[in-house]
Amino acid sequence: MNNLLHSALTRALHYRTTLPTRRVYPDADAIHALTGLDEPLPNHPTDPETVLAQLDDLGSPATVAMAGGRYFGFVNGSSLPATLAANWLAAAWDQNVALRVMSPIAAKLEEVSTRWLVDLLRFPPETVVGFVTGATMANFTGLAAARHALLAKQGWNVETDGLFGAPAIKVIVGDEVHASLLKALGLLGLGRERVIRVPVDDQGRMRADSLPPLDDRTLVCIQAGNVNTGAFDPAQEICEQAHQAGAWVHVDGAFGLWALACPPRAHLARGIPDADSWAVDAHKWLNVPYDCGLAFCRHPDAIRAAMTVLAPYLLPTAHPEPSHFTPEMSRRARGIEIWAALKSLGRTGLADLIERNCQLAARFANGLRAMGHTVLNEVVLNQVLVTFGDADTTHRIIAHLQAEGTLWAGGTVWQGHTAMRISVSSWATTEEDVDRCLEAVHRYTK
Ligand SMILES: Cc1ncc(COP(=O)(O)O)c(C=O)c1O
Repeated sequence: MNNLLHSALTRALHYRTTLPTRRVYPDADAIHALTGLDEPLPNHPTDPETVLAQLDDLGSPATVAMAGGRYFGFVNGSSLPATLAANWLAAAWDQNVALRVMSPIAAKLEEVSTRWLVDLLRFPPETVVGFVTGATMANFTGLAAARHALLAKQGWNVETDGLFGAPAIKVIVGDEVHASLLKALGLLGLGRERVIRVPVDDQGRMRADSLPPLDDRTLVCIQAGNVNTGAFDPAQEICEQAHQAGAWVHVDGAFGLWALACPPRAHLARGIPDADSWAVDAHKWLNVPYDCGLAFCRHPDAIRAAMTVLAPYLLPTAHPEPSHFTPEMSRRARGIEIWAALKSLGRTGLADLIERNCQLAARFANGLRAMGHTVLNEVVLNQVLVTFGDADTTHRIIAHLQAEGTLWAGGTVWQGHTAMRISVSSWATTEEDVDRCLEAVHRYTK
């Protein structure tokens, strides 16, 4: 064990310290070398050091350098040093946090993290948190709580009786709803397409003046952070209208919710804390290792009714248990890295991280405009959409940039325009990184 873990440390240190100089996307040779893994299932044991060596020799060169400063694909954070170190220790602890009795330390860290997060995001003090895999499951969990509460008001117990014959729930989404929220609705039997789509404005924000009639059987799903533009739905107006009608408001804030923790950007999220449930990713902007999302709910009874399982062997206690707020029972103790991130950054460190990323996104946008390219969105947060001309030209340039290796950014089609999406979400990104990437763009577009 001793030599093996030291070897893992040496290899991991080499990986992290060489990130600034390595290609962001692996080259063709490294990807081809992965065929070395296509061997039959071994009949006999392999020495763990040999296992680790193969993983490092073939695996490390074929990784995408998401943990570095020049990866801008999708919305992917990196892992802060404290969270990576906490993750290693947590892996050594190997704790299951379904129940407090399984791991007092893991349960304690989730309890402390819950308190800190609720304070940080200015949510109502009664808010509870489920520590889930990511925003997709956080949306699922918040929507399950909503489904429970709306149907319970109609005298229907959806957990015991299911949805067949249940009173109908009206589900409202913005026209630029994230695909994963629709998936969560589908998983809950509410239907990916059985939704009312509300028109959006020129930044993808739901138009509050176009909401259909709302009532106490309505679930309104809004966004804090459009995946393309970073724009926020007008939460204050929507929450006011919804709550007057007795509707439930759920927020998909996969990355944008963190704006609430950043005073210069918090105005974008005005009214978001008025909602009933919220989904956010910690593996995005809090920069903890994958997989880590958070489902917040200001109605503890609703989320518990949706998620709790009871059995005599599960030792029921008077206290809520971590698994009362999550779809999973056994799971990784995700609160450990959340706690480490919040403890190491503090309120100001997190605000600085978010603000720095937003300013770097603006630097990107300014540099691209200075080269004559069109930035399609108002760069209010960390997302930049740039077009290099027609769709074919834009695709070609994205492909060149991805192959060249200085940076990695993906493509999208937004409101009829083909664009490159730049998402600045890593604590590791610096001004020098952005300038280096702008030079690469210049090389391919001059
Ligand atoms: C707005 C929004 N919602 C949900 C998701 C899904 O998050 P995850 O992949 O962590 O499940 C994303 C991912 O980018 C997102 O941007």
